[in-house]
Amino acid sequence: MLRGRDLLSVADLSPEELRQVVALAQEMKRRRYAGERVIPLLRGKTVALIFQKPSTRTRVSMEVAVLELGGFPLTFNWSELQLGRGEPIKDTARVLSRYVDAIAARVYRHGDLEEMAKYADVPVINLLSDREHPLQAIADVMTIVEKKGRVEGLKVVFVGDGRDNVAHSLILAVTMLGGNMVVASPRELRPDPAIMKLAEEYAAASGGSIEVVEDPREAVRGADVVYTDVWVSMGEEEVAERKRSLLRGYQVNAELMRLAKRDAIFMHCLPARRGEEVTEDVLEGPWSVVWDQAENRLHAQKAVLAFMLGG
Ligand code: CP
Ligand code: NVA
Repeated sequence: MLRGRDLLSVADLSPEELRQVVALAQEMKRRRYAGERVIPLLRGKTVALIFQKPSTRTRVSMEVAVLELGGFPLTFNWSELQLGRGEPIKDTARVLSRYVDAIAARVYRHGDLEEMAKYADVPVINLLSDREHPLQAIADVMTIVEKKGRVEGLKVVFVGDGRDNVAHSLILAVTMLGGNMVVASPRELRPDPAIMKLAEEYAAASGGSIEVVEDPREAVRGADVVYTDVWVSMGEEEVAERKRSLLRGYQVNAELMRLAKRDAIFMHCLPARRGEEVTEDVLEGPWSVVWDQAENRLHAQKAVLAFMLGG
């Protein structure tokens, strides 16, 4: 499973594969807590990590994941490679394929990842694009399973920009696993129709559901999970003011959280902008599982890499 394949979207996994990755991620976590950090399934293998935009969690958790699997991570900024001087992606992909066992990249344009995957002879992994953030969603459903025991049948509400990369991947992962996904977003920021179509297919097969509404209060009522992300993503600086004004009524604050189930959890991929999409009291309060969620990036990525490249 997953061996030799690209991971550009959650849709590159079958529901069964997503379940298996989550199960292995949980095992990786248990073993790490029991003192077994190093599980050398990638012994001698090298993974290139290329970043066109900043990163804290993804970069560090991927480097540690590769190292703890006995492999070697090589991290680059896009601009320090010849890519920054205009060497074509297709040339870079073919050359790197002669040196490394996988290429992982964080890019502005999802199409650039598709171009990389088309020309690379090794698997290409999406570390976030303008369209999706699949590794985040894998850690997110792992976190929901850890906190709630399952995704199936739960009401998972994303509040904010429905076209957000993190939202897109979450929509796919939750509907794949039989969750009831609700997106609360302004009419102008509804999820991409292609993502919606996939989510509808997953929901029909899994017994889950997908719904987009405008009113965050209506959406959050009875929620098991409330999730949000920044209003202005990396690369959206030019439309920042427009997005802030569209999303003004979509802040996750204590008043909104009180409409959710009493034992609801609050999730955020981080980094968060306190006072904008979420208030300090929610982020730091009893609902919040964001630190465990961030930690789970490491365990989830160890699982993904083990399936993709493991010996
Ligand atoms: N959540 C996430 O991907 O964070 P970074 O931008 O710090 O990698
Ligand atoms: N939507 C955010 C996620 C950051 C992890 C962005 O793309 O900037």
